[in-house]
Parts: sequence; C-alpha cells; structure tokens
Amino acid sequence: MKEEKIDLLKQRFLKEIEEADTPKKKREISKKYLEKELSLVFQSLKTLSSKRKSKVGKKANELKQLILENTEKEEVKENKQWTDVTLPGDKIKAGNLHPLTEIQKKCVDIFAGMGFAVAEGPELENEWYNFDALNFKEDHPAREMQDTLFIKQKNRESLSSEEKLLMRTHTSPVQIRYMLENKPPLRIIVPGRVFRNEATDSSHEINFYQIEGLMIGEDISVANFKAVMETFFRRFFKKDDIGIRLRPSFFPFTEPSFEVDMTCSSCNGKGCSLCKKTGWIEIVGAGMVHPNVLKSGGIDSNKFKGFAFGMGLDRIAMIRYKIDDIRLFYSGDVRFLSQF
Ligand code: DAH
Repeated sequence: MKEEKIDLLKQRFLKEIEEADTPKKKREISKKYLEKELSLVFQSLKTLSSKRKSKVGKKANELKQLILENTEKEEVKENKQWTDVTLPGDKIKAGNLHPLTEIQKKCVDIFAGMGFAVAEGPELENEWYNFDALNFKEDHPAREMQDTLFIKQKNRESLSSEEKLLMRTHTSPVQIRYMLENKPPLRIIVPGRVFRNEATDSSHEINFYQIEGLMIGEDISVANFKAVMETFFRRFFKKDDIGIRLRPSFFPFTEPSFEVDMTCSSCNGKGCSLCKKTGWIEIVGAGMVHPNVLKSGGIDSNKFKGFAFGMGLDRIAMIRYKIDDIRLFYSGDVRFLSQF
C-alpha cells in the first residue's frame, strides 16, 4: 500500500515538473514534495515493522534522490541561461602612469644609456644649498629673480643660511649635495619637483618638475655638452635631424652660461605656432660649472671642470604631447590623464 502511494507521488511529481514552465515554478514544486509530501511518508515509516520499514524506506529515499537531482538539473540549466561565454567580457579599467612620470622615465632611460646616474635631494631645502653654494651673492638680484616660497620660522633674520628653510626653487642644489658626497668624475641627472611663488597661467605653475644634469671630469668641454644634449633630444623626440644651438645667457652658477634651443620638433625648423615662427624652441638652461660652485662642492677647480644643465620636464612633455596648458598636469582630471 505504502509503496503504491510512493509510486503515485512520483508520477504526480514528474507530471507537475513537466507542466511547470519556469525554473522558479519547478523549484517550488520540488520544495513542496521534499518538505511536505515526502516528509509525511518518512514520518509514517515509524509505524511499520522493521522489514516493511526498510522496503518502503528504500523507495522513499529513491524518490527523494530523484527530486534532488531534478532540482540540481534545473539550477544548472537556469545558471546556463545567464552565462553566454561567447559574449565579450567586461572591460577592466586599468590605471596608467601620469604623463609626467612617463616622460621622466623616458628621460632617465636615455641619460642612463649615456652613463648618467640618478641622484635625488630634498624638496624642503635650506638657503645655503639653494642659493649661497650656487654662487648667488647675498643681495644678488637673482635671489629675487626666483620667487621663492620661504618657510615661516621664528626669528628668521637671526638664522644662518644653513638654517633658513625654503621650498627648493630648482634642482640645482642637488649638484652641491652630490659633489660633497662623491669624488669626480661625476655624471648625474636629478629629476625632481620644484616650487615657485608665481601666479599661474597656461605656462606657469607654483610647482613643476625639472631635470638637472651635471658632468664633471678632468677635460669636459662645451663640445661634450653639445653632444649629450643633441643625443638626448634626438632620442627623446625620435628624430635624427634635430639640432641644437647655444645662445649666451646668465646664471650665477655657470660661466659661461647659455640657453639651449633645439630645432622645433613640430615643424622641423620651418616655423609654426609652437616655435613662434622661429623654427627653434628654447628648452634648456646650461653652462660650464662656475669655479665657486665646484669649491662649494669640495672639488678642486684647477683640476676638474664640467657642465651643468636644467630643463623643465613639464615643458618637454607639453612639446612632445602638444599640450597647451601646464595646469592640466596637476588638475587630476581623469579625462585628461587617461589619454596617456
Ligand atoms: N636652475 C635653473 C633654473 O631653475 C636652470 C639651470 C640653468 C640649471 C643652468 C643648470 C644650469 O644646471 O647650468 O632656472
């Protein structure tokens, strides 16, 4: 009697499952059979003799198994409906390096290829390294030339220049720091952030990046400098016909000093808006290291000489990527930054 009831249950279950038209309905039917109908059968087993119990129990278990398998099958089917493995996957948003970081890395690579090591120094600097050691005299107008962000200190006037703090206005103080710790010959570049107390516009920011260069040896000349610069720009802009020219200039820490122009990379020297129709772009300040600077660095200026240069990383990034506003680099605008 009991066995027949189980057979009947099984038939009813299979029929209902077949008629159900959604996975949800099918799941509900299985649930109903497991939790209600079958559990009644299991409860009634208690009243049977042990021989009958094992017979009927076996059948009831078989039905339970069938229902469970059916449920699993439905679940797999349901999941499959939603997993189309041929669809393209969700695009993973990868971050990218900041354009200035990219440019800095490229510069470091190129100079490393010419044997230059990388040196670094602090952004919070003192007046001695930033000015005095670089041959800026006490009331030299050049100190005013660079609008400096000084640090507020108690009784500042009575402090020595080693104690007076400021945000470095250029990467040149690292020349001195490096000379004091290393013996010539020297060949370094110094990438780093610098600060100026300036009104901002499309070509000025209160902070920006520079790359300083320094090469000291027994017979380093302007010719070596010209070769290093030309090689650098040709590799950086990937153009073999880029040339440079030197114009006389003034910096307290070099003698002679020059401004370096390079052939406009945009028009190849023909004249365009980027180079203001001159065919040249002013790009680097440089010169032969002043004997007083070598002295500050503890180097014998009778035996050693060399060149130094400083260029704006932002500026060469702007030329390379044709960006017309320096402030974009510091805007944190992802629409701008994600283009690189
Ligand atoms: N320090 C200069 C500036 O910030 C750039 C510079 C010019 C660096 C000439 C040098 C140099 O090393 O020789 O404007």
